[in-house]
Amino acid sequence: MRHVLSLFDLSTDEIRRVLEISADLKSKLSGGDRPALLQQNVLGLLFEKPSLRTRVSFETLICQLGGASLFLGEDVGWGKREPICDFVPILTSYLDVLVIRAKSHAKVEEATRHSQCPIINGLTDLAHPCQALADILTMQELSGTLENVTVAYLGDGNNVAYSLALICSKLGIPLRIGAPEKHQFEKEFLDGLNQSAGAELITQTADPREAADGANYLYTDVWTSMGQEAESKQRLVDLADFQVNKELMNCASPDAKFLHCLPARRGEEVTTEVIDSPASAIIKQANNRLHAQKGLVVWLMTEAQSNN
Ligand code: CP
Ligand code: NVA
Repeated sequence: MRHVLSLFDLSTDEIRRVLEISADLKSKLSGGDRPALLQQNVLGLLFEKPSLRTRVSFETLICQLGGASLFLGEDVGWGKREPICDFVPILTSYLDVLVIRAKSHAKVEEATRHSQCPIINGLTDLAHPCQALADILTMQELSGTLENVTVAYLGDGNNVAYSLALICSKLGIPLRIGAPEKHQFEKEFLDGLNQSAGAELITQTADPREAADGANYLYTDVWTSMGQEAESKQRLVDLADFQVNKELMNCASPDAKFLHCLPARRGEEVTTEVIDSPASAIIKQANNRLHAQKGLVVWLMTEAQSNN
């Protein structure tokens, strides 16, 4: 059974196929066509952290595909009221597909070992693969092609940056990560990505201007992710030089776009001036969560399982 816990779980061709289905269904939706590809399928959402975009986009997409959704918050007590080895097989015996947003990636990995249906990672401390699929769909739409696109990610080397690095390496897109040394990725992780890609595609620097230089997209995320609140004061200090502001946008390509997975903290990782500027593509990017995940769910339920 196929699960999508990180983009390591998808080959380059599979990512391209997911994006192809996403673009096709997005175009159909805009023409009023909502093919019932997953009629009567039930998608569960098991969330231990808050969410707007991930929750609502998954609930909406399964409804548009003719299925239904079931949201389960922390009160269901997975791993607390009863162990994962009892909880997950029962829950997944009712469902067709399950999206999990969890504090610990290891907990989702454990869930896959007991699951009777495919599981999708809806964000963990390690990875946010659904976000990265939507990010690429957005760049593809804005740039027309992914060829000759260079991306700069500024700030914390977190779950969003991890999935962005993975998808860029799989699709051959150069990504420059600008982060203070303390918040950079382990060298081994980037070396592994570049080795698989056969090129020095993913680089990191502690100089934000060097990262932003001539890039087509400047991407950032919050400096304090969910679960890191106790470190937030120190992070404000550590990451202060990595704010995406007008000066940094001026280092990028003249037609560069600004991206952010949201929610954003205006005045911290990005200025209000930049996030509200015409260069900001955040609404399109957030809307593409719906379309990218629709492609992922359709692929996972119709093509991936049958090829398995
Ligand atoms: N970007 C993102 O995952 O948003 P939510 O936390 O609102 O789901
Ligand atoms: N890095 C952020 C992303 C939120 C969508 C977090 O994990 O809180």
